[in-house]
Amino acid sequence: MNPITRLSLDRWDAPADAAEQALAVDALEQGSVLLLPALPFVLQGDEARLLSPALEGKGKNVSLDPATGRVRGTEVGADEQRLLQGLLQRYAAATRALLQHLLPGYAPALQQARTSFRPAEIAGRTISWRKDDTRLHVDSFPSSPTQGTRILRVFSNVNPGGQPRVWRLGAPFEDVARRFLPGLRPPAPGSSALMHWLHITKRRRSAYDHYMLGLHDAMKADADYQARVPQVTHAFEPGCTWLVYTDQASHAAMRGQYALEQTWHLPVAGMHEPARSPLRVLERLTGRALA
Ligand code: SIN
Ligand code: FE
Repeated sequence: MNPITRLSLDRWDAPADAAEQALAVDALEQGSVLLLPALPFVLQGDEARLLSPALEGKGKNVSLDPATGRVRGTEVGADEQRLLQGLLQRYAAATRALLQHLLPGYAPALQQARTSFRPAEIAGRTISWRKDDTRLHVDSFPSSPTQGTRILRVFSNVNPGGQPRVWRLGAPFEDVARRFLPGLRPPAPGSSALMHWLHITKRRRSAYDHYMLGLHDAMKADADYQARVPQVTHAFEPGCTWLVYTDQASHAAMRGQYALEQTWHLPVAGMHEPARSPLRVLERLTGRALA
């Protein structure tokens, strides 16, 4: 598996040819990062004002909820809020157009999730080990179970000072699962319904979500694994865009500041080859249905 696959696309809204479409879907579904080095997301008008540490709220990111259209995670004034909302909406629309052209097979099933702006420098943050994304991990979030639905994310580095966003990319998903699954306990009976009832989770935490959280935590907690697993470091330069299934690709963000990110969800049935999904891989390895 190539950790990174490059495509020379340079327009958000231009048709891709059949060969590019086939390459894109195959790269993503095998867990590769699809890198578009010639596709910048260009800021307009006053938007450059938003490239300021003043945007940072208490959390890591500022985000736009597509259901409400509201921006969360920052305490800036009304003018800045509006500018930010416009920027995030424009980014969401750009990534929608890109996916429609590049991954037309996904279009009917794609669901838009939140759009985020990441104004904080990654390096040197003090954060608990579980939330520390400088450690290799696959994405899984305690309060947001996916029940197997895929997490496809589009990132663009909009840093104005030439600073790259530096990631590490680790082992293929099946290697991660084979290594850590045997050490995980099965979900406690009744816990899924209880956590949902107590609003700890937004929907039921399926056995799939339980094992994905287990993999996420086990990877991050294992310093020896972090250091020794075969990995590559890649610097995503300002002006580039990249797509990746973050529930599948082992990734860690080491340093960088100012990125945009759009999350898309895709049900496993909407994939070109569902057998390559983390859900189907974990079901094959455990011998049972997990969602
Ligand atoms: C992550 O998903 O682990 C963080 C990615 C980033 O902000 O670059
Ligand atoms: Fe992540």
